[in-house]
Amino acid sequence: MAFREYKIGARLFGVALGGSMVITLYFPTVNMTSVAVTEIGLKKQLSYGRISGFSYEDPFLRGEGKPKTVMLDTDPKTGAQIDPIEAYVYEAGVPFPSGINHPRTLGPGVTQLSVDKGMIGEANKGAGAVFVVSRGTSQGETVTYIENASATRGWQPSDVLTTAGDANTKLVGSGKIMFVREGCWWCHTLLPEQTQDWQYFGIPPRLGDFNGESPTAFGSDRKAPDLLHVGSRNSSKEWMMMHFFNPRLVQPHSIMPRYDYLWGEKDASGKSIDFAAWRTAYTEYQKGKTVYPPEVPDYAADSEIRYLIDFVLSLK
Ligand code: HEC
Repeated sequence: MAFREYKIGARLFGVALGGSMVITLYFPTVNMTSVAVTEIGLKKQLSYGRISGFSYEDPFLRGEGKPKTVMLDTDPKTGAQIDPIEAYVYEAGVPFPSGINHPRTLGPGVTQLSVDKGMIGEANKGAGAVFVVSRGTSQGETVTYIENASATRGWQPSDVLTTAGDANTKLVGSGKIMFVREGCWWCHTLLPEQTQDWQYFGIPPRLGDFNGESPTAFGSDRKAPDLLHVGSRNSSKEWMMMHFFNPRLVQPHSIMPRYDYLWGEKDASGKSIDFAAWRTAYTEYQKGKTVYPPEVPDYAADSEIRYLIDFVLSLK
């Protein structure tokens, strides 16, 4: 007899779980298609890539398989000068963001322009593609849409990367992975609250800004400054380097942990970073025995701190 009740209980549990999963997975998709993605939302999904959490391409959250954000002032195909434009480079095999895979989710107007004028349907993951954000009109209103520049302008990923050069290449997508992996959201939000916060941290995001972003990193219980627009308040790479190597270098009472290990083993010139020697020198400085703190090493081009700083400075 008792066994029968277990069976009923198990079925009820199954129905409740199934029902809640349908609501969780299906309803947001329905809603998403009725809100047009904003320009910010497009730039975010194009620079972050398909997913910024655990994924098949990057199971250990190392920042692999992500697009690169570049600034171009020369047309990579014709060599002509152009107005500076941000381009999102997906090298062969890098997964496309949800707006390319499911154009319907871009919302009213944007979907049609992206498919018809932007030719996003032609983008091929195996060959790679380069995207830009363009402006067009839909029902008398100006909207932004995704343009597949590989199809419309003949821009190939490798040409775009060579033309832009490493100094104009930002690894924003890999940096978002660092932000998620390192738990920055535990203390920081990316969502100014609707209070006097706005005056200091800037305007809050709109619904369409989150279209195609997975996961979002609003944070919840904030213990530190909001970072949604931090790149507008502070765009100094040198300050960021000191602050991430050891926040106490610039904010003596900061409770933020140090992230010196994101530098990796070698500095920009390929020399091993001697963390022990650095700390010894830093302790001397703290005790007042030296006037200046030790120098923070330059980071290597493929270090995780480069990713993180590129991401943080992209938060405009
Ligand atoms: C234990 C909480 C904590 C964690 C975790 C944390 N921070 Fe912070 N962070 C702070 C506090 C507190 C401040 C303000 C004092 C300071 O500048 O150090 C701050 C300041 C900052 C600032 C400067 C903000 C401004 O308004 O100028 C940046 C940028 C920043 N953190 C980025 C990060 C990133 C990126 C991570 C993850 C790698 C991170 N933080 C992790 C607590 C934290």
